[in-house]
Amino acid sequence: MYDYIPDNPYILLTPGPLSTSKGVRNALLRDWCTWDADYNEEIVQNIRRRLTSIAASTPDDYTAVLIQGSGSFAVEACLGTAVPRSGKLLIVRNGAYGERMSEMAQVMGLNFIEYALSETEAPDAVRVSEILVANPDITHVAMVHCETTTGILNPLVSIAGIVKDSGKILIVDAMSSFGGIPFDASELGIDYFISSANKCIQGVPGFAFVIAKREALAGCKGNARSLCLDLYDQWRAMDKCGKWRYTSPTHVVRALYQALDELEAEGGVTARYARYCENHRVLVDGMKEIGFRTLLDDALQSPIITSFLYPHVDFDFTAFYIRVKAKGFVLYPGKISQADTFRVGDIGEVYPDDMRRLLDVIRNIDA
Ligand SMILES: Cc1ncc(COP(=O)(O)O)c(C=O)c1O
Repeated sequence: MYDYIPDNPYILLTPGPLSTSKGVRNALLRDWCTWDADYNEEIVQNIRRRLTSIAASTPDDYTAVLIQGSGSFAVEACLGTAVPRSGKLLIVRNGAYGERMSEMAQVMGLNFIEYALSETEAPDAVRVSEILVANPDITHVAMVHCETTTGILNPLVSIAGIVKDSGKILIVDAMSSFGGIPFDASELGIDYFISSANKCIQGVPGFAFVIAKREALAGCKGNARSLCLDLYDQWRAMDKCGKWRYTSPTHVVRALYQALDELEAEGGVTARYARYCENHRVLVDGMKEIGFRTLLDDALQSPIITSFLYPHVDFDFTAFYIRVKAKGFVLYPGKISQADTFRVGDIGEVYPDDMRRLLDVIRNIDA
């Protein structure tokens, strides 16, 4: 599995697109006919079934709807289709991706309010409950699971419990967690969650998907504020025989099929989570030993991506980035306003030994 050198000049330690296996990249190398069963049935429908099986212990209650474009397209399709004109959305926001949901809601003219926090603060389920009690007209709640802005892991279990007890529809942006952090949509009662091909499933970029409770999506006909991003219509068309409404990104879809095979071969989401946790542990222990500090308390931190504070006021991230990249590792700039940070991802075809090699490189750079 340790196969990307020398055919890739560097490892991507980013939140995606991320480093993929040679098997996934090889899967791109043939063409497919979008009319025939060898593509529609054997690849598209197969992927949809496998995604719901990974997502939920009652997979028949869910359907996977694949959408052309990046992850944001699927978030927009989901919000714009799930929330009816008579509905009201609560957006839990503690980072750039929560903020993007608010921008989408604004552009689409959705009726929404925010529960806004700072980027280093985790949302509180009790506060969500208070907001729901104070605003009984709220019908839907949207939250980000792993806020990739900082790497914070938001408390999905406690918030899902409150939202479901209140009888509201729950929408989760699980873009950077699905496939890498185990959760059971059935058990948590999640109605919709969103991820994309190029995150923890370890495919290549080009499409995203929404895993929706059939019962919830079935009531969404005519809700969409966009023709192309109509999740309901996409579902109805795709469900007939696996044919996408508009041009399907065939090569990327075939690569995701291969990525799912590799996820199964690794031992499923639990095994992948264990690898990511070990990547993260090696990275953070080593960085602390070198003298770097993490932005977040350990209790808030996900094993997906970590924000490190600049070690001193004269730290030149651009120069550091260029030198580390020249040695084969791509880091990621910080994205928050409160502190000077950079980020290191540990998802993708990346192993603890890669982290050790990265640490050797960083140790030898006079930052
Ligand atoms: C949590 C989260 N939501 C949404 C997105 C947006 O996805 P994309 O950049 O693929 O549109 C990202 C991207 O990294 C993300 O991490």
